Amino acid sequence: MLNDQVLVNDWHVVARAEELQEGRTMPVRLLEEDLVLWRVGGKICAWQDLCVHRGTRLSLGKVENGTLACAYHGWVYNEDGQCIRYPAHPSQQPSERARARVYQAREKYGWIWVCLGEATRDIPHFPQWEDASYRKVHCGPYTYKASAPRAIENFLDITHFPFVHQSYLGDPTHAEVNDYQVTTDEDGITASNITVWQPDPDGSGQGALVSYTYRVYRPLTAGFVKSSAGPHFAMFFTITPVAPNLSHAWAYVAMDYSNLTESEIQEFQNLITMQDVPIVESQRPELLPLDLQAELHLRSDRTAIAYRKWLGQLGLSFGTA
Ligand code: FES
Ligand code: CO
Repeated sequence: MLNDQVLVNDWHVVARAEELQEGRTMPVRLLEEDLVLWRVGGKICAWQDLCVHRGTRLSLGKVENGTLACAYHGWVYNEDGQCIRYPAHPSQQPSERARARVYQAREKYGWIWVCLGEATRDIPHFPQWEDASYRKVHCGPYTYKASAPRAIENFLDITHFPFVHQSYLGDPTHAEVNDYQVTTDEDGITASNITVWQPDPDGSGQGALVSYTYRVYRPLTAGFVKSSAGPHFAMFFTITPVAPNLSHAWAYVAMDYSNLTESEIQEFQNLITMQDVPIVESQRPELLPLDLQAELHLRSDRTAIAYRKWLGQLGLSFGTA
């Protein structure tokens, strides 16, 4: 069993809710555990993807009348994970031990979230979700053959914009960053008023100084709000830790202006992410080093420094070294 209690006891997105259809199973993977998702009525079941009879994947099975039947010998499981019928012995009462391993699952923000242990916190709050002045556009998932903390750190990193996202989010001749403030408390990290120049921050075609405020809500969930003269552009970003060096990123863009179509917004995010992915996948060591002596830091890296310190204080181990 995984020794990372922080991530075991945290909520993680494993799928888009609209992709999990009634009457179907869906295999997903979280923290090196194979899971099967299925719906019964309004409830989402997230179980270990394993039939306790002979270890067959339950995701190969059939959803029928609010039960899941294994594909191999047809054992029928009810929504609580208890086997209620052995087809080879219809009159035999199934053993109490004949039950699937059941995890907590919830639907929120159009995503399915799973906790493999005891949830110590609620699903992180997405501040713009209920704010009708913000339009929300779903982006991703994006796969990184890299550790989840490396991918979050890239999301929090502002000084790469002029280089990795040149002409989109920055320009090498305007690479300077102000001295900004970072605070950490039990609810995470806040990095406020990071001011950078961008060639076209709001789609008007005009270069301008913009100000970013980042929040790290949970070890693998973060967001920012970017403001220029008027409009606000926000992101909510969360990563599924699949394996120590395999991650899926899910995002919403939230903006209080709209001069772009949904697919234009998604295409832009896809392009930006495809610029980030090869950089993050190239980083060595693959696991994010929490020892601050392991890499060199600048003042402008203070969000990353705070992030590494915080992960160390929490005792996070999966995807870190
Ligand atoms: Fe599932 Fe036999 S392996 S019923
Ligand atoms: Co980037």
